Amino acid sequence: MAYSFLLSSPTFLKAIFFTLCAILWVFPELAFAKHAGITRHYKFDIKLQKVTRLCQTKSIVTVNGQFPGPRIIAREGDTLLIKVANHVPNNITIHWHGIRQLRSGWADGPAYVTQCPIQTGQTYLYNFTVTGQRGTLFWHAHISWLRATVYGPIVILPKRNVPYPFPQPFKEVPIIFGEWWKADTERVINQATQTGLAPNVSDAYTMNGLPGPLYNCSAKDTFKLKVKPGKTYLLRLVNAALNNELFFSVANHTLTVVEVDAVYVKPFKTQTILITPGQTTNVLLRTKPKAPNATFVMAARPYISGPAAFDNSTTTALLEYEKASSPNDKKKKNNNRNKLPLVRPVLPQLNDTSFPFKYNQKIRSLANAKFPAKVPKAVDRKFFFTVGLGLGSCSKRQACQGPNNTRVLAAINNVSFVLPNTALLQAHFFNKTKGVYTTDFPANPPFKFNYTGNPPSNMLVNTGTKVVVLPYKTSVELVLQDTSIIGAESHPLHLHGFNFFVVGLGSGNFDPKKDPSKFNLLDPAERNTVGVPSGGWVAIRFLADNPGVWFMHCHLEVHTSWGLKMAWVVLDGKRPHQKLPPPPSDLPKC
Ligand code: C2O
Repeated sequence: MAYSFLLSSPTFLKAIFFTLCAILWVFPELAFAKHAGITRHYKFDIKLQKVTRLCQTKSIVTVNGQFPGPRIIAREGDTLLIKVANHVPNNITIHWHGIRQLRSGWADGPAYVTQCPIQTGQTYLYNFTVTGQRGTLFWHAHISWLRATVYGPIVILPKRNVPYPFPQPFKEVPIIFGEWWKADTERVINQATQTGLAPNVSDAYTMNGLPGPLYNCSAKDTFKLKVKPGKTYLLRLVNAALNNELFFSVANHTLTVVEVDAVYVKPFKTQTILITPGQTTNVLLRTKPKAPNATFVMAARPYISGPAAFDNSTTTALLEYEKASSPNDKKKKNNNRNKLPLVRPVLPQLNDTSFPFKYNQKIRSLANAKFPAKVPKAVDRKFFFTVGLGLGSCSKRQACQGPNNTRVLAAINNVSFVLPNTALLQAHFFNKTKGVYTTDFPANPPFKFNYTGNPPSNMLVNTGTKVVVLPYKTSVELVLQDTSIIGAESHPLHLHGFNFFVVGLGSGNFDPKKDPSKFNLLDPAERNTVGVPSGGWVAIRFLADNPGVWFMHCHLEVHTSWGLKMAWVVLDGKRPHQKLPPPPSDLPKC
């Protein structure tokens, strides 16, 4: 009786209707069919916001006033429409790091590569579909050093009703690592560019924007993860730091790596994660069956492989167990919780250069029927790129502070890349490349030397805007060789527009006779960013099946600023669906 009364009550029906609308507003995916992707809209207002860290307040560039920026959530197959409106004095662009951007290169975001920046007062609608990817990625500003504060996670869920290939977690928690400067980071890089010397290092590392209690005035700025005993948590780890690779560990808890760069991997257990800027890693954390009488520290600190000065501090967050308790003694318990002993993790030595070899060996594609590893077996074109530091000569007027009026630069095959004043992709698409770029990027180093031995006495590099042109569907093998010029150092190389397979990794100089026979073509890691080992090499393969202009660069922002970057121009295929469509009408102008 009561039931039928409820059904016939108009107010009740209205209530149900509004609740449903509210649910659909919050969870738009509920409104649509099982398999078709949906369109999700986001608005990114770029604005200044005052933020206080380490006892100092500064005005930073943010998205919607948030730091870190808002989380983007999508399912595999969804289309994202993200309207970016620039309300700050700086030019801005946003890059969706790791998104393949299949035939949507206009939405990729690197300034002067795929687009001119969005100027003050202007907007641009980023429009792309997430295809064949699921896991964690992130978005960040892609101009100058603005990504120092303009970043946030991208969570890509599997399609509706498609489970993870690992136990369904009880909860999912993004943890995004960052780097904090007391100074204005635009000033930091501008000053370095003027003097020709290395820029200042950061004052802190952060987790979800919070440095944690090991820094001055920061006990209140500590990320706390409250967990229940006996549950599985999925931590979505992102390294959005500017210039530092990081070790991460949780005291007394083992982590199971299940995904990197939005690709599932064969699960493996580890105490410590190594994550370079530009990389993402999903790990499962299984909590203890009973709440222990302790609080556990989650800590991250840098992996240092090179000669440069660095920020050697440690960011910490807390893993706190909730105790099942009656509401009455909650207060008491909470007070007790605060006094619980802190258990700290043991992290590798800052300069443990053997760690990345061991760790990277463990990362393997699932390579099964459902998630095959589509490693290119035949190779159309081979490239050998040296990556490293070098010197550039300065004009008399500039008076650089390096030896003999030089400045520090970085280069690939001795080319220190210079961004043009217009976007490479536009120049390519409209066939107006003259004076913008040349197509003679060297496939091999201009001269041979013992790359990881005593460096040559001439450390000067050339500058230029050179690209490699690849016909559609070229399969590429690329060996990235670190050099010891100025000093060997790890370089997290990031490729836009593609995932690549990490088929080989070694220390010293790559041996083209012996090393290829050891390549893993069965289940290599598939990713978008890989650390070229300090004083070593890495071999990757990818299929150039995405027409457009694709940036490749070291994801240490300081090295990108110095020119450790280049671009691949991938030509259209013959069929209509193999061509890059024309740019959207609101594409910003330079
Ligand atoms: Cu996350 Cu071109 O960068």
